[in-house]
Amino acid sequence: MRVIIGGVTTVQAAPIIGSMEIEVRRFEGSLKAWFDAVDISFGQRVVDEDLPVVEAYTELDRALAAYAGDRVVGTAGIFSFDMTIPGGRMPVAGITMVGVHPTHRRRGILTAMMRAQLDAIHERGEPLAVLWASEAAIYGRFGYGLATFKASIEIERARAGFREQHVPRGTFRLLEPDEATAACRPVYERYLPTRIGAFSRSEGWWRAEFIHDPERWRRGGGPAFFLLHETDGVGDAYARYRMHGDWDERGPKGSIDVQEAIALNPAAERELWAYLFSVDLSAKTRAFNVPVDWGMRFMLSEPRRLGMTIGDAVWLRIVDLPAALERRAYAGRDRLILEVRDGFCPWNAGQWEVEANPDGARATKTDADPDLVVEAADLGSAYLGGVSFAELGLAARIEECTPGAAARADALLRTPLAPWCPAVF
Ligand SMILES: CC(C)(COP(=O)(O)OP(=O)(O)OC[C@H]1O[C@@H](n2cnc3c(N)ncnc32)[C@H](O)[C@@H]1OP(=O)(O)O)[C@@H](O)C(=O)NCCC(=O)NCCS
Repeated sequence: MRVIIGGVTTVQAAPIIGSMEIEVRRFEGSLKAWFDAVDISFGQRVVDEDLPVVEAYTELDRALAAYAGDRVVGTAGIFSFDMTIPGGRMPVAGITMVGVHPTHRRRGILTAMMRAQLDAIHERGEPLAVLWASEAAIYGRFGYGLATFKASIEIERARAGFREQHVPRGTFRLLEPDEATAACRPVYERYLPTRIGAFSRSEGWWRAEFIHDPERWRRGGGPAFFLLHETDGVGDAYARYRMHGDWDERGPKGSIDVQEAIALNPAAERELWAYLFSVDLSAKTRAFNVPVDWGMRFMLSEPRRLGMTIGDAVWLRIVDLPAALERRAYAGRDRLILEVRDGFCPWNAGQWEVEANPDGARATKTDADPDLVVEAADLGSAYLGGVSFAELGLAARIEECTPGAAARADALLRTPLAPWCPAVF
């Protein structure tokens, strides 16, 4: 199999089983041809009415494809965005639209695309790659580590009582789809720097992922509602939700599905969720992505009734180790020697002397003996502060050569809140 980026063959991957040669290179073709190829891997066919909407955020210039002759049988795309990291924000490659057609699966095509994609990201100078995985077994082998978690909840309306009385300060407005971006986006922009793991969104993203609401994506539910909460006339929380109506002999028993809910302060958060927990004709409220350290756990009188279930969310790959470590802020000041094992991106492998302080770090190659030995994927897990080396140690994922080194590394990397990514990309 040949892997070609920018016209240069970069890697000779394992030969393909069977007679057909596969070439991985930049995608060339129309938006429709791209989505036609992407959708087949997900058991779908492209829908023409989506194309004008997704055009605004699809980066065809960063799209890779696996070609069998002139036919595309695999795809790997990227969203270029900034992610909030400890101490600021970082340009990252948001990996998306990865798939291999069922006719060509398990012959190494994904592996070849990951090779080409990580080389291209490295060359471009993005220190991190991040993704949501369709299946959790896929990306660890390419050096991605599980870095953020999410919780899903489902609570009966009758059980969603609050611990404390609260006099509402704000008001609500239901927005039309064509006014929702203008109203919700400023709230999100203010939220973005406050939560590690949140990412910047273009106008095209808002249109395609927030507003666009074709019937086939509703899973039997009604249309999306866009709810804005304002205090003193200024938006400070919003939600996108839909209702799944249902009735039986005893009356209404519908449910509310919350796709996204963002609040800038505890009062707005409380008022937003008090609304979402009590919409008339609904018997319960579900949300599939709330932070694991969500304030509702301490606001509700019966938090157990949320039935919080923790799931994996963002996987993070350190592409350029010194750049990634140097551009983050740390919770203390210390110097550690890390030995990083990285078979897939060997430029990261070796011993690194990391001198960290609250404003950044210096990471330089060294021959000195390591304090801590870690796989690149596990360093990726720890990078945003959501997974500790103590926790990785419980899974025998790290080797502590200097006693206490894991605790010292944790003291540097820890963050007050869990990283959380508010949307799937
Ligand atoms: C997931 C997918 C991209 C894998 O593509 P592929 O070309 O078959 O993968 P490869 O042949 O390069 O597999 C590399 C290794 O990963 C393993 N692997 C691949 N997909 C896997 C999966 N879904 N679950 C577990 N292991 C998987 C393979 O078994 C192989 O392991 P090995 O090296 O030990 O033999 C493809 O099956 C697919 O398109 N699935 C549906 C769409 C999807 O889920 N895309 C991912 C979106 S995040």
